[in-house]
Amino acid sequence: MPNIIADFISKPLLPFSNEGVDFLWEVNSKDSDLIMTRCKGEEFFILVKNRPPKFIIKGEKLSRPSQVVFLQRALREYVKKANCNILFQNAASSSNRTEIKNHIIKEIDFFAQNFIFDKELLLEIGFGSGRHLLYQAKNNPDKLIIGIEIHKPSIEQTAKQCDILGLKNVILVNYDSRILMEFLRSNSISKIFVHFPVPWDKKPHRRVISSYFINEALRVLKVGGTLELRTDSEEYRGYALDIFMQNSQADIRILKNFNLEISSKYEDRWKRLGKNIYDITLTNTKLSPDNSALSRLHFDFLNNIDKIRQNFTPKLFRGDNFFVHFEEMYASCKRVVIKAAFGAYDRAEHMFIIIEEDKISYFPNNVYAAKANKAAHEIIKKWLNG
Ligand SMILES: C[S@@+](CC[C@H](N)C(=O)[O-])C[C@H]1O[C@@H](n2cnc3c(N)ncnc32)[C@H](O)[C@@H]1O
Repeated sequence: MPNIIADFISKPLLPFSNEGVDFLWEVNSKDSDLIMTRCKGEEFFILVKNRPPKFIIKGEKLSRPSQVVFLQRALREYVKKANCNILFQNAASSSNRTEIKNHIIKEIDFFAQNFIFDKELLLEIGFGSGRHLLYQAKNNPDKLIIGIEIHKPSIEQTAKQCDILGLKNVILVNYDSRILMEFLRSNSISKIFVHFPVPWDKKPHRRVISSYFINEALRVLKVGGTLELRTDSEEYRGYALDIFMQNSQADIRILKNFNLEISSKYEDRWKRLGKNIYDITLTNTKLSPDNSALSRLHFDFLNNIDKIRQNFTPKLFRGDNFFVHFEEMYASCKRVVIKAAFGAYDRAEHMFIIIEEDKISYFPNNVYAAKANKAAHEIIKKWLNG
C-alpha cells in the first residue's frame, strides 16, 4: 500500500480538485483525518495520521479503490497541495503504470441484482495468483468464470492477465466468499473450486468451509454440480470431511495425490516438500428452492447528528448470531463518520457509516440483507436514533 511520511503539512481547505482528483470533504478524530477523495468515478478515503513531528499520509484500508494507481495519484496530488515536506514515500512512480479499464472487476452491487446469466457458471473461491482460474477461462470459452478473492492485489493482477490474454469470460469480485454465497441464485452454478484455502489452524472460525457455507454452496449448485476442495492440510481435510458428511444432499468422493492439468503456485510448493494433496468433491443431488434477490439495507429516518457527535464511545453489541461493534468516530461540523464492524461473527462486514444532516449511508459498499447483516442493521438504526 502506498504511503508517505512527512514532517510538515499545511492541510488544504476542502473541496479542491487537481489533475482529475477531487478532494471533497474531511472528518477528524483525535489523531487522524479521513479525506473523502474521488478519482475516475471511484470514492475512497485518504487517511492522514497526525503523529507530530511526523505525518503519515496513505490510503485508508477499508475503502481502497479498485486500482492502486488511483490512490497513488490522489496521494501525489494531496501532498503537493499540502506542501508536505516528504521524508519517505513509496507512492511516486505511478506515471508509467497502466490503468486497466475494468469490465472484469465487478462491485458487490452487480451480484445483488440476482439476474440470470446466459452461460454456464463456474465459481472459484480464493483464486490467489489466478493460475487455475485463467486455465479454466482459456479452456472453457463458452462458460463464465466468477472469481472471488478478498486480496485486492490478486484481483488486480488476475484482471490484468485476463486483459492481456483477451479473456472475455471472467468476472472478478473483491469480497468475502462466505458472504457472497447468499447473493447467488439457487441451482445456478456448475462447479465451485476451493483450492488450497487458508487452513487457519489457530482461528478455525475464519475458514471458508463451514456448515453454513456448505449449505449455501449446495443451494447454489445445480443438481449434478460439484464443489471441489483441494488441500494439502491433513487437519483441514478432516475438518471439511466432517462437515461434508453431515449433509445428506451430497455425494462425496476423495482422491489422494491426483494431478490436475494445472498446478497452482501453492501446489508446486507443497509438491516440492513432498506433501500429500487431497481432493474432496461434493456433488449436489437435490434441487433447492428459488431465492429472491437481496435487498439493500437503507436508513430511512433523520437522526440527531449532534447527539451522536457528543455521546459517541466505542461500543459492542452481541446478538445470538450477529454482532455490531462501533469502533471509532470521525467528525466535522457537517458530518459524523463511524468505523464499524458488524454482521455474522465469522464473516463480519467492516464499513464506515456516513451520517449527514439529510442522509445516512454505508461506505464504501452498500450493505445487503444477508441474515446477520439485517439483524445488525436493526441495532445500528436503533443506536443511531438514540
Ligand atoms: C493459500 S491461498 C491459495 C490460492 C490459490 N487458490 C492457489 O491454489 O494458489 C488462499 C487464497 O484464498 C483467499 N481467501 C481467504 N479467505 C477468503 C474468503 N473468505 N473469501 C475469498 N477469498 C479468500 C486468500 O486471499 C488467498 O488468496
